[in-house]
Amino acid sequence: MSSLPITYLEHSQLFELRTSKTSYLFGIRPNGSVQHVYWGEQVEASECGYRLKNRGHSSFDAEVNREIEEFGGWGGCNYAEPGLKATFQDGVRDLKLAFANFEIPSDDELVVHLADDHYSLRVEVHYRVIAEHDLIERYVTVVNEEEHPVRIEQVMAAIWSVQGQRDYRLTHVTGRWAGEYQLRETMLSEGKKVLESRRGFTGPHANPWFAIDNGKADEASGKVWFGALGWSGNWKIVAEKTTFGHVRIVGGINDFDGSFVLQPGTAYTSPVFVGGYTSGGFGEMSRLLHGYQHDHVIPTDKLRKVLYNSWEATEFEVTVQGQLELARRAAKLGVERFVVDDGWFGARHSDRAGLGDWQVNAEKFPNGLQELIDEVKELGMEFGIWVEPESVNPDSDLFRRHPEWVYQFPTREGTQLRNQLLLNLGLPEVKAFVLDFMTELLSSYDISFIKWDMNRTVTEPGVHPRYQQAGESVWIKHVQHVYEIWAELRRRFPHVEFETCAGGGARIDLGMLRYADQAWISDNTDARDRLSIQEGFTYAYSPAVMMCWVTESPHGFNGRSLPMSYRFHSSMMGGLGIGANIRHWSPEEMAEAKRYVELYKEIRATVLQGSLYRLESLRYSNTAAYQYLSQDRKESVVFTFLQSQHFGAEERHLQLQGLDAGVKYEVTIDEQELLVLHGSNLMHVGLPLQLRGDYGSKLIRLKAIQ
Ligand code: GLA
Repeated sequence: MSSLPITYLEHSQLFELRTSKTSYLFGIRPNGSVQHVYWGEQVEASECGYRLKNRGHSSFDAEVNREIEEFGGWGGCNYAEPGLKATFQDGVRDLKLAFANFEIPSDDELVVHLADDHYSLRVEVHYRVIAEHDLIERYVTVVNEEEHPVRIEQVMAAIWSVQGQRDYRLTHVTGRWAGEYQLRETMLSEGKKVLESRRGFTGPHANPWFAIDNGKADEASGKVWFGALGWSGNWKIVAEKTTFGHVRIVGGINDFDGSFVLQPGTAYTSPVFVGGYTSGGFGEMSRLLHGYQHDHVIPTDKLRKVLYNSWEATEFEVTVQGQLELARRAAKLGVERFVVDDGWFGARHSDRAGLGDWQVNAEKFPNGLQELIDEVKELGMEFGIWVEPESVNPDSDLFRRHPEWVYQFPTREGTQLRNQLLLNLGLPEVKAFVLDFMTELLSSYDISFIKWDMNRTVTEPGVHPRYQQAGESVWIKHVQHVYEIWAELRRRFPHVEFETCAGGGARIDLGMLRYADQAWISDNTDARDRLSIQEGFTYAYSPAVMMCWVTESPHGFNGRSLPMSYRFHSSMMGGLGIGANIRHWSPEEMAEAKRYVELYKEIRATVLQGSLYRLESLRYSNTAAYQYLSQDRKESVVFTFLQSQHFGAEERHLQLQGLDAGVKYEVTIDEQELLVLHGSNLMHVGLPLQLRGDYGSKLIRLKAIQ
């Protein structure tokens, strides 16, 4: 058994990718196709070569093995969802990709080269082993070395195969605006289940993450295969169960309306699709993904600042006086970053005008923006601001100057959503405009934080005839330019932190998280609704980026009244923010909130950088409980919530996870009760919860005693 992350076993023609707990095997068949062999617990690779033999069932299923190709094109006898589908200049639409050679550029990287046997079209299949998190990153590069253009009809980032289970269950998230990240589970029967976005961005309706198990895994145990795609535009993940019991997960940019031309001498590189396996259930799956995000994806290791955001308090009625009042109150609460949301620029008095005109509104800020920034800084806070660079109101100077910059088809007017159109960010002029105004804004003012929003989907993605480039995909270009702008802004302004927002959580994925320090996961700030949104979010994404605000009670969306304790506990489970109209908070409310902010600062390193254990969920219980364990495992924080109680029902004992059995812990519940218990008892006997009242909640802190 090799201890290297990547080994090639020559006599059996097998590649072995090894993480700390898993083996991933594939090999080269005599006909040159590269076939998946095994993915799961660590095994002895040298005994698996026999799995490469061909399986033909009948002339109707002559090459069953092609269902588990590691990466293959549409061509020959292949009916499964393909990795690549292309049309050559001469009209041939048949790909015959076969193994050419491989390289191991570094210990943890493997590139398998595939080539067509007639045309000079090559595919590099890239693997990177993230051993410590039991993950493998995959992507492909397609290189056109023909003298002619090649039309790419479909190109996926990776194909994952899961085999050998009696049943296969898919877990994914779905949602809508203000109701993102709702978990769903479905048993797969033969056929395809497609998760996708055709809306131009990641979308709230689905998110590019999947998990497969045999229907029996739970939070703490069971085999789970999972993956997440890093693409913030139109994407597609197909979970296909074939009639021979294989499950293929094929994912990449969406082929719908997505074909493009690869010019001679050029290459296309797909987004990264990371995949993993664990036998530790959904909880361990999430911890592996979170650890990976901390170490390899998110551009910062700074802890989230406690922020105040003015949106729910003032909406578009932004005035320097109103913002100053909010800032002074926020500082008293211990807030560290004050953020002015929409409404500070152009003629932005409502969502009907002003988007695109990124000059400070002189009526609202007669002495300029710096007056507010100076006082915010004197109050000891950083200053942050909201922008939505990709959009434009038709009632704006920008649109009057450049009506040709928006997506439109010549014979169509274009759908307005929230009274706005979308700029074609793929155009070099538009990209330059955005980079210029953002550079001007960030160089003119002392701004430490940008909330970058996108409040509409893409419709009618036509390009003005002046800018048309035959064969380009507008869908891909837009996303590439978003990434390039964010990368450039981060380079020019390394001290500025960025938040990704799209009408709430509609653009969060492993692509965007390479550039964003934090994410606004939903416009729904009702602390109870938030529990299910936040829970679903943490299946794939880390609490380190998950921003949560404390807002009003009763809540404006659903009229629900919640105690401040519940609202804070719900929001302290990620990056804490306050978004209420704190000008109206009583001295008692201010004092209570201040105590929570102080408490949050004490526990935030554990919440943001620790390990998350989802102990109980309102999906199947009247209690929710989420435990965070610090990196050094010496401290733990548990948030518990009661939905409603039935008098006399069995008293809940919460069984914690991840503690050291033999270590004693000092346990404080809501900073009052004090207990000393062994880890073994906390994990197996459990902690009496004594939650009372509708929407009762408690914060439990544990400290290991030396
Ligand atoms: C979106 C965001 C909100 C707020 C508004 C401003 O809905 O998600 O947080 O910024 O836009 O228009």
